[in-house]
Amino acid sequence: MRPLLFDLGAHPGLSVRLQDLLGAERGALELRRFPDGESYLRLDTSPQGRAVILLCPLDRPDECTLPMLFAAATCRELGATCVGLAAPYLAYMRQDIRFRPGEAVTSRTYAGMLSGALDWLVTVDPHLHRYQSLDEIYRIPSRSVAAAPALAEWLRAEVACPVLIGPDAESAQWVAEVAARIDAPWRVLEKTRSGDREVAVSVPDLDAHAGCTPVLLDDIVSTGGTMAAALAHLREQGFASPVCLLVHAIFAAEAEAMLRAAGATRIVSCNTVVHSSNSVCVAEVMADGIRGCLD
Ligand code: R5P
Repeated sequence: MRPLLFDLGAHPGLSVRLQDLLGAERGALELRRFPDGESYLRLDTSPQGRAVILLCPLDRPDECTLPMLFAAATCRELGATCVGLAAPYLAYMRQDIRFRPGEAVTSRTYAGMLSGALDWLVTVDPHLHRYQSLDEIYRIPSRSVAAAPALAEWLRAEVACPVLIGPDAESAQWVAEVAARIDAPWRVLEKTRSGDREVAVSVPDLDAHAGCTPVLLDDIVSTGGTMAAALAHLREQGFASPVCLLVHAIFAAEAEAMLRAAGATRIVSCNTVVHSSNSVCVAEVMADGIRGCLD
């Protein structure tokens, strides 16, 4: 029987393409808020005897997670054979250590909650920094798929002679993989963060790539502080209009304005989080990961 896909707020293009690639039936559901803020959920397509895929970006995690958990529990209660989460963006990955006494290590607690409610998890480029793999915190089978093939394809088609620049050491994993796919040079900057929004970066000598188009590449833009600092330095070095390329366009309030003020003219993201900059589709890589979990 075809898998049943319930879309809980993904990018429409991603959702439709995933249904096609997986041969999935789109499930109908009603999800709304009661006046007191609680969620109401009703499945209009029965999950009885079906493998269920919940497609749910978790970019507003505190708002999105409860409805997703309600949907998962309801699918199980109503007879789904398995219930998996396809989360184009996986939240709560960055609080992966107790930086100060008493802090919540939310990545671990969040993973525990999701692991108890789901049978598998597929996500795109989770922010693995101090964790080597999702298996360190998730108790269910999980697959982290990379946006790199889709980003490389976009760069090949859109940017002549790119030099890829990661704004911090953590970005090296994404930048190196994309650069290898298109045989482009790459560099990584050094970042120092002194607060949620205060970021300083150092820029290496890019003279050897003076004729190239700089492409700033990162996994997440949240406050925009990291990319704005890198942009400002590149502009100081005489590079005009670097392309800002990213996987997850979280874009907290003012982030886009901050990037524009720092000189960004072209901002391009994957459709893992719905945003006006979405131009790179990750459906193919996600479908590969989901197939592996459904087999
Ligand atoms: C950090 O390690 C990530 O790779 C991003 O650079 C970071 O999350 C971006 O955050 P913000 O936009 O708030 O500077």
